[in-house]
Amino acid sequence: MDRLDVTECFAGIQFPGHLHTEQSLQYAKEFRFKEGDIVIATYPKSGTTWMQEILTLIYSQGDPEVATTIPNWVRTPWLEHTYFKETLKDGEGPRIITTHLPSEVLVPALQNSKAKVIYLARNPKDVAVSYYFFHKLAKFLPDFDSLPEFVEHFLEGKVHYGSWFQHVKGWYMQRMNFDLFYITYEDLHKDLRRSLKKLCRFLGCPMYSKELDNIEHHCRFEIMSQNPMVNCTLISSEIMDHNKSKFMRKGVVGDWQNHLKEEESAHFDKVFQEKMSDCDLQFVWSLENSEDT
Ligand code: A3P
Repeated sequence: MDRLDVTECFAGIQFPGHLHTEQSLQYAKEFRFKEGDIVIATYPKSGTTWMQEILTLIYSQGDPEVATTIPNWVRTPWLEHTYFKETLKDGEGPRIITTHLPSEVLVPALQNSKAKVIYLARNPKDVAVSYYFFHKLAKFLPDFDSLPEFVEHFLEGKVHYGSWFQHVKGWYMQRMNFDLFYITYEDLHKDLRRSLKKLCRFLGCPMYSKELDNIEHHCRFEIMSQNPMVNCTLISSEIMDHNKSKFMRKGVVGDWQNHLKEEESAHFDKVFQEKMSDCDLQFVWSLENSEDT
């Protein structure tokens, strides 16, 4: 399936037609989750692949065999993708399902299930910069001439997968309604060991210290960026132009400081304050001063 230039509109949100169809999105919306299912929900570029790797390694007790031999889209498939139905398999461990869908679409299906949801968020300035470079790499996403142009669309929620603000707030507000664990990309960076322990507790997966050591090692950026099962190098250059950018690009907190000008950052802050005024979420914008907003 090509459809590189096709945009699907579903629930008022744009999606790349190369990956999704009306049918695949509808199938996702009506999906019957089972007890034991684990759902990774993220806005794009929030560290989804990192979380997929962490969960794979948790359920392999730190053994990298599965992580280094099976592509992430097979072992932790995206619910809304066209290939999902054929890919999701019952295995020994729980089914790990990934989604970028907003909570509004999935809440009805999740509310009546006993699935566990892990919501991973990332500070939106880094998300926007990472997403901009991903648009250069991925030929199934629209072209933008410059980062400021992209950021304007991002702040207005006029990008594929919709508004970051609505996505994060929407999922966060559901945390009392089902079994949801909220964590950030910055938490993973600041103290991976502590984050792993919290995740394992949430999942009910006790881990030995040696296993945690192995998980920590195998999900490091340097290791993952060399792993073809997650670094997207298996995807052909007709779909991803690997000369334009890398999927495993930098993997740091605060890279936005290298890309947004002072006035652009100030404008971003203003929009952030307006849109997040009804929400108590705090974000870490840089690890140097670990300043929360
Ligand atoms: P950058 O573009 O800022 O480098 P997603 O998986 O949701 O598409 O997110 C991709 C982002 O997560 C990229 O950010 C990528 O480098 C980063 N990432 C992936 N694995 C990581 C890891 N092990 N450690 C830190 N960042 C990671």
